[in-house]
Amino acid sequence: MRLIILSRNGELYSTRSLYNAARRRNHFVRVIDHMNCDLMIQNEHNSIFVHGQPLRGYDAVIPRIGHTVTAYGSAVIRQFESMAVPTILGSEALLRTRDKLSCMQLLSHKGIPVPQTLLINNYGQFPHLHEKIEGFPKILKLLSGTHGLGVLKADDIKSMEGILEAFHGLKQKVLIQEFIEESSGEDIRLFVVDGEIVAAMKRSAREGEFRSNLHRGGSSEVVAISEEEKSVALNAVKILRLHVAGVDMLRSNNGPLVLEVNASPGLEGIEKTSKIDIAKKIIQFAERLAK
Ligand SMILES: Nc1ncnc2c1ncn2[C@@H]1O[C@H](COP(=O)(O)OP(=O)(O)OP(=O)(O)O)[C@@H](O)[C@H]1O
Ligand SMILES: [Mg+2]
Repeated sequence: MRLIILSRNGELYSTRSLYNAARRRNHFVRVIDHMNCDLMIQNEHNSIFVHGQPLRGYDAVIPRIGHTVTAYGSAVIRQFESMAVPTILGSEALLRTRDKLSCMQLLSHKGIPVPQTLLINNYGQFPHLHEKIEGFPKILKLLSGTHGLGVLKADDIKSMEGILEAFHGLKQKVLIQEFIEESSGEDIRLFVVDGEIVAAMKRSAREGEFRSNLHRGGSSEVVAISEEEKSVALNAVKILRLHVAGVDMLRSNNGPLVLEVNASPGLEGIEKTSKIDIAKKIIQFAERLAK
């Protein structure tokens, strides 16, 4: 087969891992920076140019699109879709999951348990609304944050007001969320490929920190997951029309709560922790798609 990996940097762990897995399975594979793709839109004959040369004769696309280039990345994927080249990540699904709010709205509407969350658009209503989420601490999240940046804990109303005021002044939207204390600085990531949980890990925050992100100094280990956690993760992925995804959950006293579904989940943490060749499973999925 002839495969394309869309990635801005061929040296990144995930890109290399996918590249090597594809080569081991005897595929021709090319890493292309989506930002180097120029798009020709023409009645029923859409095409893509890279350095002035048309891309032709590829069997499947494996997109790895970072947060900073979601819009153009999804335009490139859409172009492949219009050229009938199978992609393991759809353009619509990518756009939907990158919008945290719409993602949570959709999941919650479809019965996936998520933490109780409040978005106050009318700042003046704050004194009347914030108590809808009971007690302190509360979690505050910038809608645009990732890697744990922009996730804060407010211990009392004074500090919450201060944080909200600052964000409001910067014209940043903030989510107010119930603090799941019993998760005690841990979350779990379930890695899904084509309707199957292929690996899972638990991430634990370092001492004195509630965010378990590996980027924030958290550590990871293999974890056994329950049938309920599996089924919640698989349903969430299905609702968002993803095939390859990382589903992050908190373990609450009332069962799993989905925090986030990642459409371009990194492979380094999960492959090194689980010792499972996840890249190979993704390539095998691309093979099935291409058939
Ligand atoms: N409501 C909550 N209660 C307790 N801990 C939380 C809560 N929300 C987040 N956390 C902790 O903070 C970490 C970061 O939060 P979250 O995953 O929502 O943001 P992010 O990692 O910055 O963004 P994203 O995962 O969407 O890229 C989580 O992994 C979890 O450990
Ligand atoms: Mg996260």
